[in-house]
Amino acid sequence: MPGIDLSMNLPPQPADADLDGRLARALAEVRAESGLAPYLTYQQPGGTGAERKAAAEWLGGMVADLAGGLTADRLILAPGTQPALFALLLAHAAPGDAILTEKLTYPGFKAAAAALGVALIGVEMDGEGMIPGALDRAARGGTAKIVYLTPTMQNPTTATMSADRRKRIAAVVRKRGLVLIEDDPYTFLAPGLPPISSFVPERSYFAASLSKAIAPGLRTSIVVAPDAAAAARCAALLRAVVQMSSPLMAAIATQWMRDGTAADLIKATRKETAARQTLARDALQGQDAIAHPAGLHVWLGLPNRWPAPRFVAHLGGRGLAVVTADAFATDAAPPNAIRLALGAARNQAQLARALAILAEALGEGATGDVIV
Ligand SMILES: Cc1ncc(COP(=O)(O)O)c(C=O)c1O
Repeated sequence: MPGIDLSMNLPPQPADADLDGRLARALAEVRAESGLAPYLTYQQPGGTGAERKAAAEWLGGMVADLAGGLTADRLILAPGTQPALFALLLAHAAPGDAILTEKLTYPGFKAAAAALGVALIGVEMDGEGMIPGALDRAARGGTAKIVYLTPTMQNPTTATMSADRRKRIAAVVRKRGLVLIEDDPYTFLAPGLPPISSFVPERSYFAASLSKAIAPGLRTSIVVAPDAAAAARCAALLRAVVQMSSPLMAAIATQWMRDGTAADLIKATRKETAARQTLARDALQGQDAIAHPAGLHVWLGLPNRWPAPRFVAHLGGRGLAVVTADAFATDAAPPNAIRLALGAARNQAQLARALAILAEALGEGATGDVIV
């Protein structure tokens, strides 16, 4: 049996979304407007003025609570949130500093911090993500100046902060004089909640990648900075990291924002994602599985008889790859859990096969020691 890899947290490619056709049409439209060759030159890091204006209008429409103060000069287009996070660390942290994060956090942020010699301090979480009182206590000593978090369908625990929780986190950010990096690629899948940044815009960066709701290959993230000067600094540091977005990809993303395709594709992702979550819920009944009905992934606690490394090796022997909690851990005691990236399956049939392998394995006991 060919392997099934549910380790990368991708959005599904819905069969009826016509991604191929839409890409071809976007290219034709960009070409009709200006020709394609101009997109082979260097461009301003952070996006052209027209792209930033289109992104500000589009993001303001998608995330209503941002709309008020969202001017084009406050935002940049980055080739993904990942290099933007690196640029923000360059802007606000130095080797030896510490940053506050959720106790389990996005591995790409761990990697960026490690590369810069910046330590992470994991803050306690509950079913809504980071706990404001725990953030307050952790920030009290003044060692850490930055808090990084993912408020919606948290990666990996799927926790989503209520509006009240967001307000309370913002109050701690302000009280302790922290810089907030709010990473919210899932906002487009579960809209309606105000960003934490909207309560404390003067101290916040809000990064809204299109990778999780449309496609990671677009390499497009919209990053909102506290003000125009901070956005310019972020763009300059982005140049140091990655020069600029691939101009053609930025042009396609902008075209899709302008002509409604981005919103259509997000709708298609939501529909396919909901169907996949239903499959997972049915297959994992009775298990310690946590998921958001609109989320791309499931967080699955394992029974004691299945230590995560052994369980993952067992699944690997059956052709299924998933990720264990240690990838996300900020300390040496990760929970006994795995993340299932439902969007990574090629289609629902493949996902159903993967879930059947998983359910069967959960029903079995761990047998003996693995000798390696
Ligand atoms: C929380 C979070 N932030 C950022 C990213 C990466 O986003 P991008 O593809 O825009 O670099 C991911 C991808 O896994 C993620 O889960």
